[in-house]
Amino acid sequence: ARHLLGIEPLHPTEITELLDTAQHYAELNRQGRAPRDVLAGLTQINMFFENSTRTQASFEIAGKRLGADVMNMAMQASSVKKGETLIDTALTLNAMRPDLLVVRHPNSGAVDLLAQKVNCSVLNAGDGRHEHPTQALLDALTIRRAKGRLHRLSIAICGDIAHSRVARSNIMLLGKMENRIRLIAPPTLMPSGVAEFGVEVFDDMEEGLRDVDVVMMLRLQKERMDGGFIPSEREYFHRYGLDAAKLAHAKPDAIVMHPGPMNRGVEIDGTIADDINRSVIQEQVEMGVAVRMAAMDLLARNARAARQETGVMA
Ligand code: CP
Repeated sequence: ARHLLGIEPLHPTEITELLDTAQHYAELNRQGRAPRDVLAGLTQINMFFENSTRTQASFEIAGKRLGADVMNMAMQASSVKKGETLIDTALTLNAMRPDLLVVRHPNSGAVDLLAQKVNCSVLNAGDGRHEHPTQALLDALTIRRAKGRLHRLSIAICGDIAHSRVARSNIMLLGKMENRIRLIAPPTLMPSGVAEFGVEVFDDMEEGLRDVDVVMMLRLQKERMDGGFIPSEREYFHRYGLDAAKLAHAKPDAIVMHPGPMNRGVEIDGTIADDINRSVIQEQVEMGVAVRMAAMDLLARNARAARQETGVMA
């Protein structure tokens, strides 16, 4: 493929290839031996129309570790503020002949639309409530490293599922790899139609967490609850926040995940998030760099192969 726009179009063999490549980079990163020539001579532009800490920093580090020339567009200081549209902005940057565009946008589908207008590879860094494919891949790599496999696991995804692109991409990825997925959320934060994804649905944490291998918590995304019902944080933590008592219903060796940014004391107790015997939250961040290195490496290889096929000089 030329782009990485979502998990939905990926075949399980492509997911495994991405994860194997990322595992290789994770080992090289730990040894300080990342190869600087993989993306040498390529230009990567990061366009974040929405706030980010983890995704933007790790895409930048990933590109630099593999030798790309990386530019972070400061979207707040760009001509978008003068009314230039997303597509005109993309066409302008495209005319500068980048090789990789990394895009985060608040509107679902905006990154797909942009990918149709440019002739370089586009990576979706999160679009609205739609997809966050590299997050699902880094979550999958973290699970595979902790559990030794990525199939036949019982995985609970808990909290604000309705507004979560992370949940959507994870449901698709973990489902394709034949895991049992349980969604736990208050009815107001459970999207309709999830049953078609072959998941089990719960509105009670203790019931939903029973004997699971993985507990994936989600942030309460108040900024996406435009005018809708916003639960009180105290009540939400009481019923849906992960604390030791609720976690005791999962398997004794269950791991705890959170994509970040976290609201401590809202969806997760700070002591659980910091418990190095249960929480793999920092490992998720570390794997984010490796997964983004793998994704850009594989897309660059595909682009090179396509140029050779069409006889265009690389
Ligand atoms: N998980 C995630 O996407 O975090 P950021 O919003 O900080 O990039």
